[in-house]
Amino acid sequence: MKIASLAALLITSVMSSMSLAAPSGTTRTVVLEKNDAGGYRWKITQASMPEVGDRQVLVRVRAVALNRLDLDELEPSAGEDKSGRVPGYDAAGDVVAVGRLVKEFHPGMRVTSLYFENWVDGRFNSMMLERVRGWTLDGVLSDYVVFEETSLAPMPEGLSYEEAATLPTAGLTAWNAVTADRPLTANDVVLVQGTGGVATFALQFAAKMGAHVIVTSSSDDKIRRAKSLGAREGINYRTRPAWADAVLELTQQHGADLVIDIGGKDTLAQSLKCVADDGSISLVGGLTGYDGNVSSIGLIMKHARANGIFVGSRADYLRMSDFVVRHGIRPVIEKVYPLDQYEAALRHLASNGFVGKIVLRL
Ligand SMILES: NC(=O)c1ccc[n+]([C@@H]2O[C@H](COP(=O)([O-])OP(=O)(O)OC[C@H]3O[C@@H](n4cnc5c(N)ncnc54)[C@H](OP(=O)(O)O)[C@@H]3O)[C@@H](O)[C@H]2O)c1
Repeated sequence: MKIASLAALLITSVMSSMSLAAPSGTTRTVVLEKNDAGGYRWKITQASMPEVGDRQVLVRVRAVALNRLDLDELEPSAGEDKSGRVPGYDAAGDVVAVGRLVKEFHPGMRVTSLYFENWVDGRFNSMMLERVRGWTLDGVLSDYVVFEETSLAPMPEGLSYEEAATLPTAGLTAWNAVTADRPLTANDVVLVQGTGGVATFALQFAAKMGAHVIVTSSSDDKIRRAKSLGAREGINYRTRPAWADAVLELTQQHGADLVIDIGGKDTLAQSLKCVADDGSISLVGGLTGYDGNVSSIGLIMKHARANGIFVGSRADYLRMSDFVVRHGIRPVIEKVYPLDQYEAALRHLASNGFVGKIVLRL
């Protein structure tokens, strides 16, 4: 190789492992501020542009998906003042600069954030809760955000920023809820509660794995939409409050081999009633409260299992991403709002009048 081209190669390789020129000045950001009812609302403000450390990556955020957790964050908080904290859990965007020691990312890559900053692979450990964006750390709702290298993953090929932004929390939680127990087969019945973010992904994943998916929902119209996504049956829990009996009828008393419990306190008893012998319940949500009980004798007599699901690791995310690409799964987005219409987006989320996800475009 000629000396000139070797020098050029060296310069390129040094540049790509350095912090490249990041935009200077300020970045638009959202913060929590107190409202008159003792809770919080969002406010758009400006913050100084974050600096990029050696193992960090600066991302121009293009889309942020909303989660039920964003509404929980607006509730009054006993004992702590969350004013000034940046909300937002799930972002997709472009890498604009990387730190000196960053290996996996380079400017121009399309990436998503991850829920846990430090859960790269292996088993969960509660220390990981200390570093969760949007909860124990500032969230992702800014035009420019600096991430640790461990809290980013490449965007799955073929998805838009808006679609990819739905994956880090809702997609990954659903993935782990569906894969928690044993691989699903075409003989398995999976019961999914509701048609929100986690539930819709769980329905799509289980259906692509060949399982017979039954969905419960508050609305016949949403059940029709769930069927167009692969659900075989739907039960309206408003008109059929004893929906577990309907699951048993639909399955000739076999029940569901896997129940994705989204409701929590008020749905657990029925989840246990309709889980099949040797089946399992993935405990995901607390839409009716997280302080519910699962009867031990109920589980024992069915030789059934209950697994607590907490989003997942980066390695889980990469497995999910691979499945999404291989099976051509498109995340279901009810509506995309520009960032400055965040109030309408949050109202839409609170109304439950949607299927899948609501996303903000930045
Ligand atoms: N464990 C974890 O790692 C994890 C991760 C993410 C979220 N979560 C939790 O999981 C739950 C769902 O989150 P999400 O983001 O998917 O929420 P979401 O998108 O806001 O889903 C809301 C939907 O759930 C359904 N629903 C509401 N009340 C219900 C009930 N009592 N029984 C059954 N379905 C009900 C409704 O759909 P229909 O009108 O069709 O019934 C509603 O539209 C929340 O409690 C959230 O905090 C847990």
